[in-house]
Amino acid sequence: MRRHVAPALSILAIALAACTAQSGDAEAVASNTTPAGPLYVRHAMQAEVNPAIVGIWNVTNNIFTDAGEQDPSLITDEQWASLAENAGKLAASGERMAAAGDIRAAAPGNMATGEYEVPMADVQSFISADPQGFRDMSASFAALARNLEVAAMAKDGATTLDLVAQMDTECTVCHAQFWYAEAQ
Ligand code: HEC
Repeated sequence: MRRHVAPALSILAIALAACTAQSGDAEAVASNTTPAGPLYVRHAMQAEVNPAIVGIWNVTNNIFTDAGEQDPSLITDEQWASLAENAGKLAASGERMAAAGDIRAAAPGNMATGEYEVPMADVQSFISADPQGFRDMSASFAALARNLEVAAMAKDGATTLDLVAQMDTECTVCHAQFWYAEAQ
């Protein structure tokens, strides 16, 4: 019993550090895993992937013209930098998931789900049934994010918008197999 207390507390500390870091303390976020330790998918989603994609959407959802089309010429230099930074964070997170040996749905202190949410034990069973499939999808997601980072650094508007649109599919495909698989 005692052996379980320390890891649970240190994970909580990491989660809190990541939450309080909010704007860009990469160190806290990167501590989701150590090379030898487990990779917690839920932490990666909550602390890394979701904030980064929200940062990206905050730019790309706010460049619509009156005609209802996205106009990348409206993206400022600061926003291009933010797009590249957030794409880099998505890529780093995807690369860690792709390289993980021990993939866990969630940390021991982060298992609680609501009545209509998929229990973490189910998520774990989907991942355990096909860990290599999870790594492969993570690698594909990471590669797309790296391409997005490059496009944003080059301020290539057409490619950037195309890759942001493709990102939705990367999220959905993985969620369909490893999150709400039984709802299919
Ligand atoms: C390689 C697989 C994979 C990819 C790619 C992926 N996810 Fe996830 N995601 C999961 C799994 C598995 C869960 C279920 C565990 C959980 O609830 O966190 C999940 C859960 C989530 C959650 C719920 C977290 C919570 O509070 O429980 C959010 C939000 C999320 N993903 C956002 C995204 C977004 C946005 C993208 C794309 C930019 C994405 N994910 C890409 C595997 C993935």
